[in-house]
Amino acid sequence: MIALITGGTAGIGRHIAEKLAEAGASVLVTGRDPERGLSAARELGGEFVAVDHSTGAGNLAFAEALAERGVKLDILVNNVGAIAQPTQSFTSEGYDLLLAVNYLAPVTLTNALLPLLAPDVRIVNVVSSAFTMHTGDPFTEPATYTAIGAYARAKQLTLLATMSLARRLQQTPARVNAVNPGMAWTPSVQALTPAAVPAWRFIWPIVRLVQRSSSAEKAARLPASLALEPPGSGEYYESKGKPTELPSRLQDPGLQDRAWREGVIASREAGNDA
Ligand SMILES: NC(=O)c1ccc[n+]([C@@H]2O[C@H](COP(=O)([O-])OP(=O)(O)OC[C@H]3O[C@@H](n4cnc5c(N)ncnc54)[C@H](OP(=O)(O)O)[C@@H]3O)[C@@H](O)[C@H]2O)c1
Repeated sequence: MIALITGGTAGIGRHIAEKLAEAGASVLVTGRDPERGLSAARELGGEFVAVDHSTGAGNLAFAEALAERGVKLDILVNNVGAIAQPTQSFTSEGYDLLLAVNYLAPVTLTNALLPLLAPDVRIVNVVSSAFTMHTGDPFTEPATYTAIGAYARAKQLTLLATMSLARRLQQTPARVNAVNPGMAWTPSVQALTPAAVPAWRFIWPIVRLVQRSSSAEKAARLPASLALEPPGSGEYYESKGKPTELPSRLQDPGLQDRAWREGVIASREAGNDA
């Protein structure tokens, strides 16, 4: 059983990787920092590959390298995410960084890996309950930039794309789900400032207290169990562990397919430019 966990060298992803390794999987973890990655791989008894998931070119080159090695994946956990951006920044390909890491990365990578996935692959896309904070058109940036706003929209697009992919694969034994792991005190949360989430600035000390006491190991339990034994497919799981119905406007198959399609198109454009 081979499991790929993106951003699996620290935070929640590191604990997901540990749980999958304990269940007998050969784990492959990605991240940018080779020192941290190699140390995690050693502890996990797995493999580390340095990848910057913020670019389409990085995701496509990684998928190509796996294809050349003939890797077949039984589990794909698209865990990598980002939020700690006080001001807007852009990737070398011109995308908003938070959109790129939280939305374009999982869609680009999953699409590029489709030929490498076992027929009964379990795909888990790690999203966030923050997706509910974006109430407008998911394809339109909010007028005023905040990191939490960009993050919420990107996670919403990933959630939509997850449902589209699950439908595309519904005649196969593949299982595709999205999960909110819940709060955890991880490197990206530690790096948060009130500038990223302006609404929290007046209650910042309380927010930090709650965040500090939230365990990444606990947050990893549900994503890991969905990777090992998903009860179904095409579901969104909240951290309490129960499938949760999406707001009705997000149940539109046309909207879901557009989220998948636009992510794939962006990845093709990045590939052509690379
Ligand atoms: N923590 C929470 O409270 C919380 C709540 C809800 C949802 N989530 C979601 O859960 C997932 C994991 O969150 P987390 O808090 O554990 O994240 P995190 O602290 O940022 O995770 C760190 C991991 O991601 C890697 N990483 C970050 N940016 C990367 C990039 N551009 N390319 C490759 N690897 C990258 C890091 O390695 P390098 O730094 O070496 O690249 C490391 O392995 C995310 O999708 C997040 O949105 C988290």
